[in-house]
Amino acid sequence: MASEARVEITSSLDIVNARRQGRALAQELGFAGSDVTMIAAAISEVARNIVEYARQGEIIFEGVEHGKKRGIKIVARDRGPGIRNIARAMQSGYSTRDNGRGVGLPGAKWLMDEFAIESKPGRGTTVTMKKWANHLGYQNHHRINGD
Ligand SMILES: Nc1ncnc2c1ncn2[C@@H]1O[C@H](COP(=O)(O)OP(=O)(O)OP(=O)(O)O)[C@@H](O)[C@H]1O
Ligand SMILES: [Mg+2]
Repeated sequence: MASEARVEITSSLDIVNARRQGRALAQELGFAGSDVTMIAAAISEVARNIVEYARQGEIIFEGVEHGKKRGIKIVARDRGPGIRNIARAMQSGYSTRDNGRGVGLPGAKWLMDEFAIESKPGRGTTVTMKKWANHLGYQNHHRINGD
């Protein structure tokens, strides 16, 4: 079972590729359909940021475990201009791009369970995000049994 994948991002076409890889791994890891959609949307945003601000980079997908939790980890990495003020970049509505809506990063954070940015001006940016699979089978079992 391939639980790690890497997609190079060099053009907007690779955004589709990254989404596809992320979806496939999330499905393989047993994520519910709605979670798969959210994961794919978050991947789109960080991949698009690589294309728009750094021109090129890579996204690494990995299945992760923490105790009984299983999840997906997505690392989007580039050696582009970096982000000077991460707190400001995370604010909804902040954008340095013409017509940018400034919702990509805060949106991705909202869609995922864990989200971190590491960046140095002139050196590049690394966004690390994780989502944990809901144990839907377990929850449903309890709901059906009334507790
Ligand atoms: N990989 C990156 N490298 C350099 N700067 C980045 C990177 N990703 C985001 N930024 C900076 O953070 C800002 C906010 O990013 P965010 O994705 O939230 O919004 P946006 O890209 O401006 O607009 P939207 O994603 O809504 O189209 C960007 O305008 C840009 O200045
Ligand atoms: Mg963006």
